[in-house]
Amino acid sequence: MPVQAELFTRPQSGDRFRSQTDPVLQLEEINVNFDGFQALTRLSMNIGVGELRCVIGPNGAGKTTLMDVITGKTRPDSGSAWFDQSLELTRMDPVAIARCGIGRKFQKPTVFEALTVFENLEIAMKGDKSLWATLRAKLNSEQRDRIDEMLGTLRLGAERNRRAGALSHGQKQFLEIGMLLVQEPYLLLLDEPAAGMTDAETEYSAELFRSLAGRHSLMVVEHDMGFVETIADRVTVLHQGQVLAEGTLREVQANEQVIDVYLGR
Ligand SMILES: Nc1ncnc2c1ncn2[C@@H]1O[C@H](COP(=O)(O)OP(=O)(O)OP(=O)(O)O)[C@@H](O)[C@H]1O
Ligand SMILES: [Mg+2]
Repeated sequence: MPVQAELFTRPQSGDRFRSQTDPVLQLEEINVNFDGFQALTRLSMNIGVGELRCVIGPNGAGKTTLMDVITGKTRPDSGSAWFDQSLELTRMDPVAIARCGIGRKFQKPTVFEALTVFENLEIAMKGDKSLWATLRAKLNSEQRDRIDEMLGTLRLGAERNRRAGALSHGQKQFLEIGMLLVQEPYLLLLDEPAAGMTDAETEYSAELFRSLAGRHSLMVVEHDMGFVETIADRVTVLHQGQVLAEGTLREVQANEQVIDVYLGR
């Protein structure tokens, strides 16, 4: 039976100071097999509330597949994925999973190119209505303020009335992150968010992600080790669908197996 998103009640403000060691996500013995190819093998990992976890590993290690499992795009052959210790994600559909507070950013930015930057954030904020109903419905002043604040956070204040299609690649990446943030997710999954960004944009996104940790929990897949070093609390290394190592970046960088399969000598 699929779990109804409505059963999930968001923690109220008093819960915000729950112990950071509480897991927001617990993956247990996840197996994913694509027509005989074992993409994830008995994969287990926990992410704590407010933690910023980086997931690294060679191409084909299973990083994107892992995000597909968490968001309901891929159903594992076995194993479980507990969200906030109460919802079993592998039994829910993608829409229900998104509604209960898990946001995902794919590698390629997906914004509405023909609409303005402001309108993109407006649509994201009012998520579940149709596009035109959303644009016709007036924002209240509180929502307007929140979008204005988000434009500042994204450094897109000057671009608010520009068509999103006219933005640089990096600006589109920031806009898409903003479209997730206005939905106030608990857990944000970001697949190679710094790909295609300039050095300055990469540096600012590191700063932004650090500022989000604590208020949100984040899982970031990234190949740029400098970026990982700047942002990560803990790092999980995947290899051939399995967890090869986990710890601080220093710890995994010193791990012989990690050096052999990923970092090189
Ligand atoms: N739908 C699918 N059907 C068959 N094989 C798949 C499918 N999705 C992924 N795979 C395979 O599973 C393996 C893991 O892929 P995945 O995309 O998760 O790797 P990744 O760690 O994200 O790699 P990259 O760093 O290149 O993005 C790859 O060998 C890929 O070819
Ligand atoms: Mg990938």
